[in-house]
Amino acid sequence: MSALFAPLTVKDITFRNRIGVSPMCQYSSTDGVANDWHMVHLGSRAVGGAGLIIAEATAVTAEGRISPGCAGIWNETQVEALIPVNRFITQHGAVPGIQLAHAGRKGSSARPWEGGEHLSDDNGGWPVIGPADQPFDPDGKRLWKTPAQMSIDDIKDVQQAFVTSAKRALDAGYQLLEVHGAHGYLLHSFFTPLVNTRTDEYGGDTRNRARMMLETVDAVRAVWPENLPLAVRLSAHDWIDGGLGIEENIQMAGWLKERGVDFVDCSGGGATPAARSSVGTRTADQVGLAAGIREATGIATMAVGEITQAQQAEAIVASGQADIVLLARQMMRNPYWAAHAAQELGVSTQDVLPEQIRFFVG
Ligand SMILES: Cc1cc2nc3c(=O)[nH]c(=O)nc-3n(C[C@H](O)[C@H](O)[C@H](O)COP(=O)(O)O)c2cc1C
Repeated sequence: MSALFAPLTVKDITFRNRIGVSPMCQYSSTDGVANDWHMVHLGSRAVGGAGLIIAEATAVTAEGRISPGCAGIWNETQVEALIPVNRFITQHGAVPGIQLAHAGRKGSSARPWEGGEHLSDDNGGWPVIGPADQPFDPDGKRLWKTPAQMSIDDIKDVQQAFVTSAKRALDAGYQLLEVHGAHGYLLHSFFTPLVNTRTDEYGGDTRNRARMMLETVDAVRAVWPENLPLAVRLSAHDWIDGGLGIEENIQMAGWLKERGVDFVDCSGGGATPAARSSVGTRTADQVGLAAGIREATGIATMAVGEITQAQQAEAIVASGQADIVLLARQMMRNPYWAAHAAQELGVSTQDVLPEQIRFFVG
């Protein structure tokens, strides 16, 4: 019996297996509105057998986008475009999830393949905000904008935007909501002492630096239905001196659990240019974070980071390191990864592949 293909029920939602598509920015929206690309990108992974499909970082305000091509959910047009995508994912047996995000001081950037530089306001960019007024890379060759330090009113406005977006996410048909609290974006930038130098109640000790994340999660939990799972992605290690380690993230995970969060999605890095990036981090380290948080707090975890092999994924779940494995780049290489993993592990593809494919090659 495969642990990877054992269904998992959390609240009213049953995942057909423990394989998830990790959120991946597509830089392909216009004004934050999804299109055929998103239908094919996400829909093909549902057809390919994944149990959970988490859509890319989706901005709660226009200024909260990383790039002009990033997805958004701050208006009804965006909701309308997402409904058919989620209907298709659900029809093919996967759970559609969304990652709600605010990019903070890392927003207003060009698409990676256009250089990733900060865009000036007269070239499609916009002013950025953060817990403090330090740019992402003050000394780098690339230009990074100086963020405006957020006032208390700014903080409340962003929290309200998360709430409105969570309600819209429900209207759009999502069944799992993930709050993006990782990779140096706004919520993580409040939590890490590498960025947050505030002296008010949102800065200082661990509890104060956690306040922005916890208040946002509280507000989202209040409107996201009790019967649907809620996840938070953390950079569970900053991977650099002076940054967050696993201990503070265990504390954070405990606070999140008390607030009714169902999963901590354990990523890492991204707070500063010198810190390790979230992509390309060593599997052993990052899966270890998911295991550590799960063991210390009892909260369910998602593990991510260079998970590419069926046996490797099977071992992560079977050994109790994580409840769900998330794959990003391997899903890019192979949307049918879950179906291939089932075949490799000798599991029936009955619940993994649609009849149109299974009848002939399943
Ligand atoms: C093209 C691309 C886009 C990504 N976009 C997001 C994102 O929107 N939100 C997020 O939390 N992580 C994002 N990530 C990070 C992945 O979700 C994942 O954590 C990371 O790539 C490590 O997993 P992998 O080794 O399976 O690729 C992105 C990664 C890639 C390659």
